[in-house]
Amino acid sequence: MVLVNNNVLAIVLCSVLALSTAFVTAQAQDQCLTCHSTLEDNASAAFKGDIHSRKGLTCASCHGGDARSDDMEKAMGTAAGFIGVPKGNAVSEVCARCHSSSETMKGYRSNVPVSQWELLKASVHGKVSTAGGEQILQCTTCHNAHGIVPVADPRSPVHQRNAVKTCGTCHGSASYMRRYNPSLPVDQVEKYRTSVHGVLNARGDAKVAECASCHGSHDIRPASDVRSKVHPLNLPMTCAACHSDVARMKEYKIPTDQYEKFAESVHGKALLEKRDLGAPACNDCHGNHGAVPPGVQSISNVCGTCHALNAELFTSSPHKKAFDVAKLPECETCHGNHEIIATTDNLLGVSPEAVCSNCHSPETNVKGYGVARTMRALIDSLEALEGTAAGLVSEAEQKGMEVGEAKFKLRDARQARLQSRTMVHAFDEAKFEEVVRPGMAIATVVMGEAQAALDDYVFRRVGLGLATLIITLLTLSLYLYIKRIERSPR
Ligand code: HEC
Ligand code: HEC
Ligand code: HEC
Ligand code: HEC
Ligand code: HEC
Ligand code: HEC
Ligand code: HEC
Ligand code: HEC
Ligand code: HEC
Ligand code: HEC
Ligand code: HEC
Repeated sequence: MVLVNNNVLAIVLCSVLALSTAFVTAQAQDQCLTCHSTLEDNASAAFKGDIHSRKGLTCASCHGGDARSDDMEKAMGTAAGFIGVPKGNAVSEVCARCHSSSETMKGYRSNVPVSQWELLKASVHGKVSTAGGEQILQCTTCHNAHGIVPVADPRSPVHQRNAVKTCGTCHGSASYMRRYNPSLPVDQVEKYRTSVHGVLNARGDAKVAECASCHGSHDIRPASDVRSKVHPLNLPMTCAACHSDVARMKEYKIPTDQYEKFAESVHGKALLEKRDLGAPACNDCHGNHGAVPPGVQSISNVCGTCHALNAELFTSSPHKKAFDVAKLPECETCHGNHEIIATTDNLLGVSPEAVCSNCHSPETNVKGYGVARTMRALIDSLEALEGTAAGLVSEAEQKGMEVGEAKFKLRDARQARLQSRTMVHAFDEAKFEEVVRPGMAIATVVMGEAQAALDDYVFRRVGLGLATLIITLLTLSLYLYIKRIERSPR
């Protein structure tokens, strides 16, 4: 028993000794650190927790020189390749010696990406230079020079909890930004702090979006650049990276179907399939930095940035107050938010598929029920008249009749129908009639004109037939007459 114990003890002792020797050797090899530690400078203090130190790198890995020499002159001699303190772009070039070479990094058994310097040079930050011609951002601006830790470490300046401060140092400073791009707003941090993301981020939540989650890190580009993560065509995917990730969003009690629904919506199809930049991306409704769901009473403002007339009519309609009182979200109650689809007349009226019948029936909100039914009847009539008129016009046209003017008027009737679909939002029978009735009148006029053209056609056909008959008869009788003359004796 005792023997075994002694053996175990011996093994433990040996390993401890071996470990501490290895540690001592690593430390001893970095004479730069040993000497600088006695100087108590910031660099050596910070370097102790540095990822590079943990990977066995020394001060000389970046500064050059001979890390095994304890002689200051020799260690920091140009003969040993000492470069001193790098400045400007030379700073990033030092990092790039390893971080841009997959071979070098593989030598350290690392497979982190090796594209940072190339990406940074091509980014918006790489395109701006100081007066001295140096790039405004070097690797050390975001990662530090000493005391560098992995980005997943909460102490990293680019960790989710700290990125806002790192980016905000420049982007929150009007005097700094004025030097490079005076037209760029400097309110991103301020607005961000009001958003759901910003509030949770300030509480230390690392799962919400911060600057780099939406903009990227080394490859940041202006929003107008089609390669930017926040360009309208790419933005929905940028948000969806988190908001459609069920595992990530599990602890928050909100749906994860926004992207899915949006992509199928009239807006999503216009933006993502037709590449129509006039259609909204997520940020057009939620804001860029102040991302919060629009409040129940302000949705019409959001939609109204594009659908101005609908919003204006709604705001002065009887529904505005009724919806506010019932805390119903404005446009959303009838159209939804992410799943908005193209509308048809079926939404209007008192049939089961009409939105009006959700709230109006012969028993409840009766007046609205009557109006909904009338409005639908009116728009149906307008459509029927317009359809008939269009049919007659095209028939006349095919028969070669001149109907240019009627065709032109038909456009006014069509316009009235489109206007009436918007005018629905006044939820007012009289106002609705003001648009529909003239449309119906025009359609009726067009019908009359087209019918007249068709009648004219018939008349001309009959006339032509009669004329042909008469001419034929005349010709025949003339022929017979001539024959008779020929046959008669001279
Ligand atoms: C025996 C002590 C000693 C050793 C070994 C040593 N240094 Fe130094 N180092 C100094 C002193 C002293 C200074 C000057 C400090 C000052 O000027 O404030 C200095 C300065 C520096 C500077 C700043 C130079 C400048 O231009 O401001 C760097 C960088 C540096 N050392 C890196 C290294 C590296 C890398 C190694 C190892 C290859 C190393 N040192 C080894 C003592 C040492
Ligand atoms: C990962 C690369 C890297 C390593 C490793 C590194 N340095 Fe530096 N060091 C730099 C860069 C880059 C600068 C330039 C200053 C800047 O950009 O912040 C610098 C600046 C310095 C300076 C100038 C004063 C200052 O603090 O900025 C001293 C002194 C210094 N380093 C000493 C050391 C010592 C001593 C070690 C080892 C304990 C060391 N460095 C390890 C990259 C490195
Ligand atoms: C504008 C700030 C910024 C600058 C400048 C910057 N980085 Fe980063 N870096 C980041 C952020 C943010 C991350 C985290 C990215 C993530 O989580 O996707 C990161 C991640 C990294 C990583 C981890 C692997 C990876 O690519 O995600 C390495 C290595 C790295 N950076 C090296 C560098 C080097 C080398 C430079 C200089 C060429 C540099 N960085 C310049 C912000 C910056
Ligand atoms: C001598 C090669 C070398 C040089 C020079 C160097 N690094 Fe590194 N760096 C490494 C290695 C090796 C790792 C560890 C990678 C790993 O853990 O997979 C690393 C890790 C990092 C990480 C952490 C990446 C992560 O996993 O999140 C950052 C950030 C980083 N370096 C930035 C810099 C910066 C900034 C400079 C220049 C000031 C620099 N490095 C210079 C070799 C180097
Ligand atoms: C939830 C995603 C998101 C977050 C988080 C975010 N941004 Fe933005 N950012 C955007 C969008 C979207 C735009 C504008 C796109 C456009 O104009 O079409 C933008 C625009 C910008 C612009 C251009 C000027 C402007 O204000 O329009 C800057 C600079 C900027 N952001 C910096 C930041 C900084 C710094 C942070 C961190 C405090 C940050 N952003 C956080 C999405 C985000
Ligand atoms: C050293 C200061 C500095 C830091 C740190 C910095 N930026 Fe910038 N950034 C700038 C300057 C200056 C510009 C203006 C470039 C221009 O428009 O010519 C800029 C431009 C931008 C733009 C493009 C704005 C546009 O639409 O034109 C975005 C987006 C941006 N930065 C985001 C970030 C993010 C995110 C971070 C943090 C990861 C960050 N920046 C860190 C200085 C900085
Ligand atoms: C890095 C991941 C991430 C990204 C990227 C992201 N979000 Fe978020 N977002 C979250 C998390 C986590 C929450 C917190 C959920 C909660 O508390 O309800 C949140 C909350 C929200 C909320 C508030 C939801 C509520 O009612 O509580 C809105 C709105 C929102 N995000 C919109 C966006 C938009 C728009 C974008 C893209 C421009 C975006 N987010 C990008 C992670 C992200
Ligand atoms: C046409 C405007 C519009 C667009 C585009 C839009 N949203 Fe919304 N979003 C809303 C409205 C309105 C609400 C609900 C507000 C309420 O009822 O409280 C909402 C709610 C949310 C919420 C809160 C949780 C929920 O589902 O109710 C999140 C998260 C969200 N949206 C993310 C997104 C993302 C991500 C995109 C892009 C893929 C997006 N939204 C596109 C208008 C929009
Ligand atoms: C950034 C501008 C923009 C915003 C904000 C916006 N829309 Fe749209 N919307 C459009 C465009 C563009 C179309 C036409 C898409 C297409 O069919 O090509 C459209 C189409 C529609 C349609 C279908 C119209 C039809 O003819 O059937 C409805 C309904 C609609 N939007 C409702 C809303 C609502 C409700 C909101 C607010 C929650 C909203 N929109 C916010 C631009 C916007
Ligand atoms: C009470 C229900 C209701 C509300 C609230 C409502 N709508 Fe509508 N909306 C309709 C109906 C019904 C139609 C279809 C009319 C038709 O085609 O006959 C429609 C059609 C539309 C259209 C397509 C017709 C056009 O005008 O181009 C748009 C766009 C639209 N609505 C936007 C909005 C916006 C924006 C809001 C909020 C300001 C809103 N709607 C509020 C019921 C509503
Ligand atoms: C979410 C429920 C809801 C929906 C959907 C809805 N309404 Fe209403 N409506 C109300 C409420 C509540 C009032 C106010 C109570 C009242 O005066 O009858 C109202 C009032 C009205 C009024 C004014 C009545 C008056 O007293 O002057 C009209 C007109 C009207 N609605 C038409 C419509 C039409 C048309 C639709 C379908 C496009 C519709 N409503 C859809 C709830 C709704």
